[in-house]
Amino acid sequence: MSEAAWLDVIRQMDQTYSGLIDYQVELEKKNADLEAMRQFMDSVLESMTDILIVCDRNGLVIQLNKTAARLAGLPDGSTGTGTVFDLVASFSHEALKAMLGRASQAAPAVSEEIVLHTTDGEAPFEVSASPRRDARGRLLGVVLIGRHVGELRTAYSALNLAHDQLKDAQAQLVNSEKMASLGRLVSGVAHELNNPISFVYGNAHALERYVDRLETYFNVVEQGATREELVTLRHSLKLGKTVARLRDAASGALEGAERVRDIVEQLRRFSGTGRAPPEPFDLVATVQTAVGWVTRTQRPDLVIDWAMPNALMVTGRSGHIQQVVMNVIQNAVDATETVQNPRISIQLGSEGANAVLRISDNGPGLSDDVRDKLFEPFFTTKPVGKGTGLGMSISYRIVADHEGRLSASNAEGGGALFEVCLPIEGAGTDA
Ligand SMILES: Nc1ncnc2c1ncn2[C@@H]1O[C@H](COP(=O)(O)OP(=O)(O)OP(=O)(O)O)[C@@H](O)[C@H]1O
Ligand SMILES: [Mg+2]
Repeated sequence: MSEAAWLDVIRQMDQTYSGLIDYQVELEKKNADLEAMRQFMDSVLESMTDILIVCDRNGLVIQLNKTAARLAGLPDGSTGTGTVFDLVASFSHEALKAMLGRASQAAPAVSEEIVLHTTDGEAPFEVSASPRRDARGRLLGVVLIGRHVGELRTAYSALNLAHDQLKDAQAQLVNSEKMASLGRLVSGVAHELNNPISFVYGNAHALERYVDRLETYFNVVEQGATREELVTLRHSLKLGKTVARLRDAASGALEGAERVRDIVEQLRRFSGTGRAPPEPFDLVATVQTAVGWVTRTQRPDLVIDWAMPNALMVTGRSGHIQQVVMNVIQNAVDATETVQNPRISIQLGSEGANAVLRISDNGPGLSDDVRDKLFEPFFTTKPVGKGTGLGMSISYRIVADHEGRLSASNAEGGGALFEVCLPIEGAGTDA
């Protein structure tokens, strides 16, 4: 071989050698990258407090993270020999099977509660499964990720407890609102009953006196008194007047008793439960009763302007509407408490298919803030013990139940204006 040929061979060997060195360097770099990547993955998996289980298409466990291995009582880094079903309590097998099936079909992942065997016994985990694929998208198996639900449970039960306590507190508040309106009602009713009862009482007393006189007279008649004696007695006993007054006293007593009966009837309707069927009632009478009960025990200088027809029939639950009117009037009374010449105007009339009741006062009116929150339960600007803040929210609901509308604004000359709009035909007329 010529010298030139030898030189060529040596050059080619040189080239191959340096190519090999480059390859080796590149390989080492790739190895280092891979190692770094592996360490990164390991550190991520290790720091996971959730469990992670990787399985193949048949459910055979390929890898567990540290948390999962520790829980299952397996040595760290164990690749697992059994199937994922070995790690799961038997009654969770069905759920797990369905979950793996869904993941293999690439259906959207849903998390489920699965009970796992752990070194501390069986424990529930919120587990979700997702498919694991190769670079070409072929299914290799499933990855399961789970979180212990014990902590979640504790948080949930604490939340439940707090919720229950809140409900109790709310029920108590609703109850105290009922007691408050009952208190107002009772003082109104006591006032209202006082008149007819004293009327009945006075007339009954008069009747007793008249009976005494008549008895005296008849005794004397029975004893066979003379005509002259009887005439004198009639005069001294004022029997003529007595007989004339007898009828008045009896009808007075009757009238008083009837008034008492009416009041009791109104009360009965007021306390009627929400289940009572809607029926036609006179809104004018209901408004008058409600206003009477609230305002009777208030300041004597409170002026009430009325503008109402003689009657206006609507359909619904009169007791409930009465409660609404009482709440609005009570608020108006409260709002005018410190006003010089307190005045409440009540206007009722029909407008189209609706009965519209407008109640305005000359109090301070409603600020934007109050208007925003007025119908929210428990919103009150009144001191503790005076208002629960339920009046308007309950009233709003009652009117809405009647398919009507309760709204609030400010009256033109200042003061608040409440409008109760009720369909004349009424809600549930056909019910
Ligand atoms: N006519 C009014 N004028 C001014 N403010 C009013 C008027 N009516 C209601 N408000 C305001 O709206 C708030 C809520 O009224 P709501 O009737 O719901 O509760 P409350 O009167 O405070 O308590 P409750 O009615 O339960 O005893 C009141 O605290 C008050 O600030
Ligand atoms: Mg109120």
